[in-house]
Amino acid sequence: MKIIAIVNHKGGVGKTTTTANLGKALALEGKKVLVIDIDPQANLSQSLGVESTENSIYHSLIENTPLPLHQLDDNFYLCPSDLDLSEAETKLQNDVNGYFQLKKLLKKQNFDYCLIDCPPSLGILTVNALVAATDLLIVVQAEFLAMKGLQNILDLTERIQENLNPELNILGMLITQLNNTVFRKSVSETVKDMYQSSVFETSIRQNIALAEATSQGKSIFEYAPDSNGAEDYRKLAKEILNK
Ligand SMILES: Nc1ncnc2c1ncn2[C@@H]1O[C@H](COP(=O)(O)OP(=O)(O)OP(=O)(O)O)[C@@H](O)[C@H]1O
Ligand SMILES: [Mg+2]
Repeated sequence: MKIIAIVNHKGGVGKTTTTANLGKALALEGKKVLVIDIDPQANLSQSLGVESTENSIYHSLIENTPLPLHQLDDNFYLCPSDLDLSEAETKLQNDVNGYFQLKKLLKKQNFDYCLIDCPPSLGILTVNALVAATDLLIVVQAEFLAMKGLQNILDLTERIQENLNPELNILGMLITQLNNTVFRKSVSETVKDMYQSSVFETSIRQNIALAEATSQGKSIFEYAPDSNGAEDYRKLAKEILNK
């Protein structure tokens, strides 16, 4: 099972949009996919039309109950979050096994791909995702100075690789919300030069349909299958399958 943590502690860069639509695109390619919401904001759950559920990832992290799975489509599943999750942070911090809870819960799952939508912080919930993950996808918004702060993620990754998860692999940096004012080439060259990290061939263009789909609780493939957003996430899924 490939477990991909989708991270950036900067808010609003496109983590949730990427988790939902890349997840759905991989499912449309015939893979069995689980998307996990580990953000107390629960945006992923809302954006896929699942709100205020009885059981959320919170109960599993704290009480060790099996992950609650909502089947959204043939081979597309969601593990939802809710606001309670913010309380989990303190509880996990006080638990000697607090870094390993998600890893333990995922051992019991059997999917081809599991994508984890992280909160905009590098706290213990993101650490749980990085400890459980086989791979890391860093979302970078295409804007001036977007690359500032990425070093913090790479430093945390290195610390996690040292002891907690030596196998953790950086799959790549994904440039999102690309528009005509910023050149992909300049963002991607700067990121490559500064961090010696690979940047995905595919970048995600700014596309209002992506935001509209979210507000309707749908993936881009249901909301606007012919949009640039659908095209870009389809292409990203193919690039990841070929890696
Ligand atoms: N390619 C895009 N084109 C246009 N709008 C986008 C695109 N990607 C994301 N958005 C919009 O930008 C906003 C932030 O995106 P998103 O919620 O995915 O970011 P995030 O990194 O998950 O944020 P947070 O850090 O708060 O969790 C949302 O309103 C979303 O609909
Ligand atoms: Mg989000």
